[in-house]
Amino acid sequence: MSQSQKDYIEQGEKYILKTYNRFPVVLERGEGVYLYDTDNKKYLDFGAGIAVFALGYGNKYYNDALKAQIDKLIHTSNLYYNVPAVKAAKRIVEATKMKKVFFTNSGTEAIEGALKVARKYAYNKDNSKDYEFIAMNHSFHGRSQGALSVTGNAHYQDGFVPKEFRAVFAEYNNLEDVVSKITDKTCGIICEVVQGEGGIYPADPEFLKGLRKVCDEKDILLIFDEVQCGMGRCGSLFAHDLYGVKPDVLALAKALGCGVPVGAFVVNERADGALVPGDHGTTYGGNPFACAAINAVFDQFEERKIPEHAKEIGQYLWDQLEGLKERNDCITAHRGLALMQGLEFAPEKPVGEIVKKALNNGLILISAGNNVIRFVPPLVIEKEDVDEMIRILEASIQE
Ligand SMILES: Cc1ncc(COP(=O)(O)O)c(C=O)c1O
Repeated sequence: MSQSQKDYIEQGEKYILKTYNRFPVVLERGEGVYLYDTDNKKYLDFGAGIAVFALGYGNKYYNDALKAQIDKLIHTSNLYYNVPAVKAAKRIVEATKMKKVFFTNSGTEAIEGALKVARKYAYNKDNSKDYEFIAMNHSFHGRSQGALSVTGNAHYQDGFVPKEFRAVFAEYNNLEDVVSKITDKTCGIICEVVQGEGGIYPADPEFLKGLRKVCDEKDILLIFDEVQCGMGRCGSLFAHDLYGVKPDVLALAKALGCGVPVGAFVVNERADGALVPGDHGTTYGGNPFACAAINAVFDQFEERKIPEHAKEIGQYLWDQLEGLKERNDCITAHRGLALMQGLEFAPEKPVGEIVKKALNNGLILISAGNNVIRFVPPLVIEKEDVDEMIRILEASIQE
């Protein structure tokens, strides 16, 4: 590593608040499915900035759209309308077949908004203030106080969320457990359609169908978090479409802006009207620059049939990972959908070490849950990228 890369790392450690244990690499530029560090070392990217950069790096259409919007107008506030926001809202509403959208700046804020919708929906019925949520064990919904309150992992909550603010937690994919925890105080049920950070666990179809049914019966709102699994990653534009189950509120982010920080929550007919003017807001959310990114993403997704591509390459990735699992006893499980897959390793083979070795060998991978490597590459990868990833990963496992 060059002295200049070492210097950047040293300065990063000195000036950036240490809430991450970063890998000792300074990434500088990207091209297609590759990233380059400041020494020009090349990395095949199977992390996509944690499931964000669906279009790959240097997508000309996307970059040109952003540049054009910068020259036109970057920000206005939500006190006025702007053209990219109106267009992006229409596209999201039409694509989800839901009713209305609120733009946020992150996935966490999309969750915050979704929780507020459910709470207010219940409050509007009887003015009761002590409503609570049912959320899932091993879920992840973000790092703010509200999003943490429904994140089913004590490691993230302890020290930040007092017990009385926490949701009631149930076992993911266990409908009986969820139903047994519903009380008169329950205002919403929140779950990821595929649990990401928790270790790549797709929902069972019967589980989601059951949640929909019970939420209808009890008149409580069902919130799907598709921040990570949405926007084509699971082989259809939205993961819940694979299940034929619609939420009342849908949270999106990550690939929605493909690198420009943006998120959204979308409400259906039932949830529309829960929030009224003054109930929620954001300075940046839905600004012209962020919404130009969303529109460019939708254009590219449509033109290049990105979700269909993710489905096809996802099957190839599945087959190759199955082969890898057969050849390596230390791999104990393989789960996921399309381009959101995970390999679980035996405890004596810590994935942290494999991820470090892979990075050294020019492959970016990220971990998840309990000793799982998570595969969330740009959605534009091709078969030869999968082959290259498997080669480097296998060498890194055996090193
Ligand atoms: C399922 C899910 N929800 C919410 C979030 C939070 O999103 P953000 O980091 O954009 O705030 C994440 C982030 O990883 C996520 O995976």
